[in-house]
Amino acid sequence: MKEIISQFEQKLKKEEKELHSDSNANIENIEVELLLDAILKQYGYDFRNYSAASRKRRIKNFLSNTKYSKISELIVHLLYDTTFLEKFIFNFSVTVTEMFRDPSVYKTIRKIVIPLLKTYPFVKIWHAGCASGEEVYSMAILLKEEGIYDKCQIYATDMNDSILKQAKEGIYSIKSLKEYTYNYQKAGGANSFSEFYYSKYDSIIINNELKKNITFANHNLVTDSLFGEMHFIVCRNVLIYFNNILQDRVLKLFNDSLILDGFLCLGKKESLNFSTISDNYQKIADKEKVYQKKHE
Ligand SMILES: C[S@@+](CC[C@H](N)C(=O)[O-])C[C@H]1O[C@@H](n2cnc3c(N)ncnc32)[C@H](O)[C@@H]1O
Repeated sequence: MKEIISQFEQKLKKEEKELHSDSNANIENIEVELLLDAILKQYGYDFRNYSAASRKRRIKNFLSNTKYSKISELIVHLLYDTTFLEKFIFNFSVTVTEMFRDPSVYKTIRKIVIPLLKTYPFVKIWHAGCASGEEVYSMAILLKEEGIYDKCQIYATDMNDSILKQAKEGIYSIKSLKEYTYNYQKAGGANSFSEFYYSKYDSIIINNELKKNITFANHNLVTDSLFGEMHFIVCRNVLIYFNNILQDRVLKLFNDSLILDGFLCLGKKESLNFSTISDNYQKIADKEKVYQKKHE
């Protein structure tokens, strides 16, 4: 009998704990909504349609690096202190990237996208969510090797000003060099990777000639408008942080920005499937997520 009572008490305790953690999670969800509304009203940044899990993870991660213990305590501080807001934005944007990330994507671009780009007198390429620029310089190297860099204009955008500053500088840690060289070769690189940078102390610095046709600019995919007449849009590993509503809105923005026959490249875990624009596109490379806009 004693054992049954003890088991019953343990069960009750467990249920109580679960109820408590459920109610804590609910309160946190309310706090997240209030915080995001406050940032939108005060600063115009709209993070409400980032995926629920991603929003909460980023905010809790930010909170853990402050002296506060509750999400709602952040609100007042964020409203009055723009430096604190900048740190919040920086934390909200996940900026992980690398040169020639997923090398097979670049092989596909070389094989399928470049031949068509070669037929145009002038080519406009948009890298949306470019982070610290490695992806953009990878494209610049590829265009150079294919002999069309000089007729290309690349727009590299991100919502995060601090990361854009790093992108413009094009200075990367020498520690990444081995991996970048390996990726470059796997991506079909025809030269020695060392032709595209010079070394200084423990850094590599991208050659200026690769920078001359790149315009880095702040652009927020949630609130800003389209970039017209693009031949190629690359937006990789950004949509993954958005919910379906926002993914669809951003894909429409890309659709409006692309010329007919223009190409769109998404991240490996992203897709046009189920979006309202998917019928306008032909799948060019399934795994590499390269699509081409069809004629009406
Ligand atoms: C994981 S990085 C991807 C970098 C690169 N495209 C790649 O695949 O290696 C995601 C980038 O998207 C940017 N980002 C997130 N939300 C954005 C938005 N609403 N508008 C523009 N950029 C955004 C972040 O600041 C971050 O630099």
